Amino acid sequence: MPPIIEIDHLSKRYDSGTHALDDVSLTIEPGEILALLGPNGAGKTTLISTICGLVVPTSGTVRVGGHDIRSQWRAARRLIGLVPQEIALEPFEKVADSVRFTRGLYGEGPDEAHLEKLLRSLALWDKRDAKTRELSGGMKRRVLIAKALSHRPKVLFLDEPTAGVDVHLRREMWQVVRDLRAEGVTIILTTHYLEEAEDMADRIGVIDKGRLLLVRPKAELMGEFGRKQLRVELDRPLNGLPPGWDEGGLSLSDDGRVLTYDYDARAERTGIGRLLAELNAGGVGVRDVATRQSSLEQVFMSLLEENA
Ligand SMILES: Nc1ncnc2c1ncn2[C@@H]1O[C@H](COP(=O)(O)OP(=O)(O)OP(=O)(O)O)[C@@H](O)[C@H]1O
Ligand SMILES: [Mg+2]
Repeated sequence: MPPIIEIDHLSKRYDSGTHALDDVSLTIEPGEILALLGPNGAGKTTLISTICGLVVPTSGTVRVGGHDIRSQWRAARRLIGLVPQEIALEPFEKVADSVRFTRGLYGEGPDEAHLEKLLRSLALWDKRDAKTRELSGGMKRRVLIAKALSHRPKVLFLDEPTAGVDVHLRREMWQVVRDLRAEGVTIILTTHYLEEAEDMADRIGVIDKGRLLLVRPKAELMGEFGRKQLRVELDRPLNGLPPGWDEGGLSLSDDGRVLTYDYDARAERTGIGRLLAELNAGGVGVRDVATRQSSLEQVFMSLLEENA
């Protein structure tokens, strides 16, 4: 299948002079979940807004389902649903009407069965006749999701969809997203909760200062960039670190029974052998060992440091 989104050398300089996107190229396959990560002001919303046709690029092209977003904007736009970062709702409009209205904007006739399914899946059915101004922040965000899905888009953009949504509803929301993916919908999301990206995404892109630093399958990224941690449980407590150890990366738990060693799994010599030999020489037995892959958070932070 051809890519659902093709971004080619995209740049955006706002009138203020801010270079929000700097030569971004990226293709997105149908049915994948791509998480965009990056610090505040990195350019994530600008990228999403440009693909959705809300921001005019300074240079470069974007195709959605093969349609150029500028010359064939109508066809491109039909394929897209957007949940914007900023909540903007008509305060006196009722929830169900608001969703119906958005569907109408896309030129689609009424579909009450779809509306009911949508509102139920987002726990909004009971609120269907409430005015949007009567809703809590998390409910409003879910109304935005319902609106974005009202015309059954092929691509859904979620710009920080879980900001301000409680833990329970966040889980339900992600279930909705997984169900959509199972139906073949492509999902591009941004989040500042890295564990969410770790949990949900097939691929992860990192943006900083308008540049796409990398896009990689999540598993590959975490395996290759990640540092690992070795946890060694000792058969008797130590008073301090092994006296001959001068390589760093080692720490001892308060009770002296667990050594933790951070190491680079890609290094030719990880230092693990030396550590175990050191313990052996000191007559310290090992009860258990475990290694842990570093989290996405560590991967992310080290990437940004490299780009600083
Ligand atoms: N309409 C605008 N006019 C001028 N500058 C803008 C505009 N929108 C965004 N910017 C600037 O472009 C840069 C990228 O902003 P953007 O909103 O894309 O970042 P972001 O990655 O979404 O950040 P956040 O995580 O805070 O949402 C920032 O420096 C921002 O100040
Ligand atoms: Mg943003």
